[in-house]
Amino acid sequence: CGIVGYIGNKQAYSILIKGLRRLEYRGYDSAGVALINDNGNLNVCKTKGKVDNLEEYCKDKDVSGTVGIAHTRWATHGEPSAVNAHPHYSESKNLAIIHNGIIENYADLKRKLQSKGVEFRSDTDTEVLVQLVEYIMEHKDVDLLTAVQVALFQVIGAYAIAIIDKRDPNQIIAARKQSPLLVGIGKDEFFLGSDATPLVEYTDKVVYLEDGNIAVIRRGEELKVVSIFGEEQQLKVKKVDINLGQLEKGGFPHFMLKEIFEQPECLTNCMRGRVNVDTDNVVLSAVIDYKKQLLDANRFIIVACGTSWHAGLIGKQMIEQLCRIPVEVEYASEFRYRNPVITSKDVVIAISQSGETADTLAAIQLAKEHGAFIYGICNAIGSSIPRATDTGSYIHVGPEIGVASTKAFTGQVTVLTMLALALAKEKGTISTENYMHVVKELHEIPNKIKTVLQLNDRIADLSRTFTYARNFLYLGRGFSYPVALEGALKLKEISYIHAEGYPAAEMKHGPIALIDSDMPVVVIATHNAMYEKVLSNIQEVKARKGKVIAIVSHDDNTISKIADEVIELPDTIECLEPLLTTIPLQLLAYHVAVCKGLDVDQPRNLAKSVTVE
Ligand code: G6P
Repeated sequence: CGIVGYIGNKQAYSILIKGLRRLEYRGYDSAGVALINDNGNLNVCKTKGKVDNLEEYCKDKDVSGTVGIAHTRWATHGEPSAVNAHPHYSESKNLAIIHNGIIENYADLKRKLQSKGVEFRSDTDTEVLVQLVEYIMEHKDVDLLTAVQVALFQVIGAYAIAIIDKRDPNQIIAARKQSPLLVGIGKDEFFLGSDATPLVEYTDKVVYLEDGNIAVIRRGEELKVVSIFGEEQQLKVKKVDINLGQLEKGGFPHFMLKEIFEQPECLTNCMRGRVNVDTDNVVLSAVIDYKKQLLDANRFIIVACGTSWHAGLIGKQMIEQLCRIPVEVEYASEFRYRNPVITSKDVVIAISQSGETADTLAAIQLAKEHGAFIYGICNAIGSSIPRATDTGSYIHVGPEIGVASTKAFTGQVTVLTMLALALAKEKGTISTENYMHVVKELHEIPNKIKTVLQLNDRIADLSRTFTYARNFLYLGRGFSYPVALEGALKLKEISYIHAEGYPAAEMKHGPIALIDSDMPVVVIATHNAMYEKVLSNIQEVKARKGKVIAIVSHDDNTISKIADEVIELPDTIECLEPLLTTIPLQLLAYHVAVCKGLDVDQPRNLAKSVTVE
């Protein structure tokens, strides 16, 4: 879910709506806004669906006021509906709240309040919180801040919240525990956001709230942050470095296509100052600063979710091959509940585009408790995961807005490659010749991606042929296996076609039963040590009349004769192939979804940043 707030001397509504649009990637099941107008009335408007619907609905409503909060939702408790949308208000309609996270003991709290006569309107955990705050204010005769502190004491779960009270229109109270929240400080005005994107055109000064912090935001006063116990916290004001152009489509029909096309530039930024071809060197400051912890490790454990987990699988192969350090790759959500064996000799690498994924954050906390050293690979600067790690490397690919991750994936793989190279050199597990070769080739990757992107029109044509499909199979081996998984995930996410990624040789142990003349099979069959084996796998598909779309190396003339469709890519070395082979699969998923007329940037049921477990 996404949270925005404003208090100052401007009309809040348009600032809130614009902010919600920027945060829509966090969820778009329903949206709502609450404002206190100049007569002291609290007006709450909410609708099912996207921010566009909310704006339409608000056209003839009173949305005036210089203080307000707004929310875009990804449903956890209660179906997406106007009633379940935020903001929620208390029975007296004095208070309105927005919330991102989950109140785990909401059923208990609700029962207690109901037994005291409080009536509920929605099925959500959030309404429980606002009713609880109201109840405490009334029955204990305390102010809003104290009531919020008392209420949060009783709450088990994760939250970022903002509350306004129509009896005091000069204040917003906001609090955070395990869900992101920041306050933007402008001139005589304050902003609230789940991230900094809603406020970049107004201010670059932000305070990231820490877990357990409560912000007391009062019109015309200095920002105050207190702990849940009321102790005043020192303000750490940070500067945000996002430009507006990064948040716009820049002439592309969708953010996803823009982000696919940005990859050459993004990877150049990712390598800037880190990969130096003149000296044939890769420098990562984290490796310099924490050489001992990294080199002394018995093993690395990579934790991540979704696309970031796929990048981790590629990182595993790279680090094992180049550094001879054993690497395990775990879904953060499984790892955290498995009572895993972790020691102080382990290095945990947490990969996350958003830096906010709840499961990944929890996996880090668990690993920390066991004394492991934590290395983060993230994109969103200043987000929760980089702040929770011992060290790390940003991928520096700029804000990623399309819900299906593209440039973040290639950025993650690039950072993992640099990490493997830097460590292998320190460890002496790579020959100088091989090291120089990989460094040179890595440096060439952005140019080669530019060549791959020229295939866009060809892939758009080909995609039209395959919109009929109800299933797709993606096959690859070695470094191409995680690429097959990622290609299948991209297609599923945005075109709603069921797709499975498989190690090519495993096909014969099950998925082969699915193959018939209706089944498109995407095979990554570039020229490498596995070429002949993959060729046999393609023969097996063809023998059962499957339709093969083959991703091959430049000048391949064997597979191109057998496959139904062939996409030729420039050559590179095997460990860097994922950075090229991923691109046509991103484009394929994109164009299939476009041909089907689907909402590419905001596919149904998904959210880009999943801050609930
Ligand atoms: C969500 C997104 C995926 C993403 C995953 C992990 O499910 O829809 O695209 O890969 O979360 O997100 P992270 O920000 O931790 O990389």
